[in-house]
Amino acid sequence: MQASLDQKYNFDIVKWFTVASVIYLVVGTLVGVLIASQLAWPVLNFDTAELSFGRLRPLHTNAVIFAFGGCALMATSFYSVQRTCGVRLWSDKLAWFVFIGWNLIIVSAVITLPLGLTSGKEYAELEWPIDIAIAVVWLAYGLNFIMTIATRKTSHIYVSNWFFLSMIIMITYLHVVNSLAIPVSAFKSYSVFSGVQDAMIQWWWGHNAVGFYLTAGFLGIMYYFVPKQAGRPIFSYRLSVIHFWALTFGYVWLGAHHLQYTALPDWTGSLGAAVSLAMIIPSWGGAVNGMMTLSGAWDKLRTDYVLRFLIVSLAFYAMSTFEGPVMSAKSVNALSHYTDWTIGHVHSGALGWVAMVAAGALYHLVMKLWNTEMFSAKLVNLHFWLATVGAVIYIIAMWVSGIMQGLMWRDYDEFGTLTYTFAESVAAMHPYYAMRAVGGLIYWLGGAVMLYNVIMTIRQASSATNTSPATAAA
Ligand code: HEM
Ligand code: HEM
Repeated sequence: MQASLDQKYNFDIVKWFTVASVIYLVVGTLVGVLIASQLAWPVLNFDTAELSFGRLRPLHTNAVIFAFGGCALMATSFYSVQRTCGVRLWSDKLAWFVFIGWNLIIVSAVITLPLGLTSGKEYAELEWPIDIAIAVVWLAYGLNFIMTIATRKTSHIYVSNWFFLSMIIMITYLHVVNSLAIPVSAFKSYSVFSGVQDAMIQWWWGHNAVGFYLTAGFLGIMYYFVPKQAGRPIFSYRLSVIHFWALTFGYVWLGAHHLQYTALPDWTGSLGAAVSLAMIIPSWGGAVNGMMTLSGAWDKLRTDYVLRFLIVSLAFYAMSTFEGPVMSAKSVNALSHYTDWTIGHVHSGALGWVAMVAAGALYHLVMKLWNTEMFSAKLVNLHFWLATVGAVIYIIAMWVSGIMQGLMWRDYDEFGTLTYTFAESVAAMHPYYAMRAVGGLIYWLGGAVMLYNVIMTIRQASSATNTSPATAAA
C-alpha cells in the first residue's frame, strides 16, 4: 500500500521540506533566544557588529518566518494538494528547483543579514538580487501548485487548497510591489516609494505577510491536518468556505492599523481599525470550526499528542485574532504601539498558532511519509508541554512589560513633566526580558526534542525497511 502511494505521489520532496522545516525551527528559535538574551544582558552582543542585536533580529525573523514557516508551508501544501487532488505533483523537476532555490535564498540571508546588507524594510530586508530570486522561486512554487490542481482527478477543490492558493497569489504581488527598488550597486537599492507612501506600501505588505502567509497558509494546514489527524470530517464545510472568503476580502484592508497617529490620513487608520474589528468574526468562526471537528471525540486529546498541538494552536489563533483587533483601536494602539505588547501579540500568534499548528502537521507528515509511529510518543508530549509553557511565559512577560512601558511613557507629574525618563523604563524592563529569555529557552528545548524524535523516527523506519523480509529475500 505504502509502496504504491510512494510511486503514485512525489513524497520525496515533501520529506526534504519536512526535515528542513524542523531543522530551521530549532535554528530560528535559537537565534530568537540569543537576541532575547541580548536585550536582557547586552554583553552578549560581544562588541561585534555581525553578532549584534540589530543584525541578528532580522536573521531571526527571516529564519522563523521564511525558512521554518516556508518549508513547513511547502511540505504541507505539496503533500495535501497531491492527496486531495489524487494526482502527483505536476512537475518533479520544478519541485526540486523550488527546494534548492528556497534553501539557497535562506543561505544568502544567513550571509547577508549579519553583514548588514539590508533594504531596511521589515520582513523584506533582503537586497534586490535576492528579492528577484525569491520572486522566481515563489512563482515556480505557485505554478507547480496551480498546475497540480488543474490536472486533478477529483471534481472538487478542497478548501485547504483555496487557502494555499490565496497565499500564493497574494504573496506574489505583495512581494513584487513592496520590493520595487532602484539598485545603486550589487547589494544596495532604494525603494521606488518614498515618505508616507513607502510606509503604507511597507505595512500593506507587512500585514498581509501576517494575513496571507502566517494566517491563510497555516489555515490551509489546519483545514487538511486537523480532520486527518482527528479522523473526522471538518465540522462545517460551509463555514470553512465563508471563513475563506471573509478572510481573503478583509485582510487586504488592514495594513493602516500599523500606522495609527502617523502622517497617514486619519481615515485610513480608522478604516484599518474598523475592518480589523470585523475580522474577529471570520477568525473565530475558523477557530471554532477547527476545534468543533473534535465534537463528540474530545477524549482523543488525552492520548493523541499530535492532535493536542493542532487543537491548542487554534486556541492561540483565537486569542491572537481577538487581541489584534483590540490593538487596532486607536485608543488602545496609543498605549500598545512601540511597546513590548506588540511583541507579545506577535509571539502569541507565532509561537502559539503558527509554530504549534506546523509542529502538529509535521509530526503527522513524518508518520505518514515514513509509514511508522513516532519513535517516542512521550517525547511528543514533552515537546507539547515545553512549547505551551515556554510560549505562555514569553507572552505573559511581554504583556506585563509592554503595558508597563506604555503606562510609564505617558505618566506625567503635577508639573506636567514626564514622571519617568526613558532610561528608567528600560531598567524596569530587565526582569521581564530575562523572563522572556527563559520562556524562549524552554520553547527552543521543545523544538530540539522534536528534532531528536524526528531523526530517531526516520532512522527507525529506515532500518525496519532495510531488514524487512522482502528486502532480505531480495
Ligand atoms: C524561542 C522562541 C523565540 C524567541 C525567544 C523569540 C524572540 C524574539 C525577540 C527577542 C524578538 C525581538 C523583539 C524586539 O525587537 O523587541 C523577536 C521578534 C520577532 N519574532 Fe521571535 N522569537 C521566538 C520565536 C519566533 C517564532 C517561532 C516566530 C514566527 C513563526 C517569531 C517571529 C518573530 C517576529 C515576526 C518578530 C518581529 C516582531 C515585531 O517587529 O513586532 N519568533 N523574537
Ligand atoms: C484579526 C487578526 C489580527 C489583527 C486585526 C491584528 C492586528 C495587529 C495590530 C493592531 C498590530 C500592532 C500594530 C502596531 O501597533 O504597530 C499587530 C502587530 C503584529 N501582528 Fe497582528 N493581528 C492579527 C492577527 C495576527 C496573527 C494571527 C499573527 C500571527 C503570527 C499576527 C502577527 C503580527 C505581527 C508579526 C505584528 C508585528 C508587526 C510589526 O510591527 O513588525 N497578528 N497586529
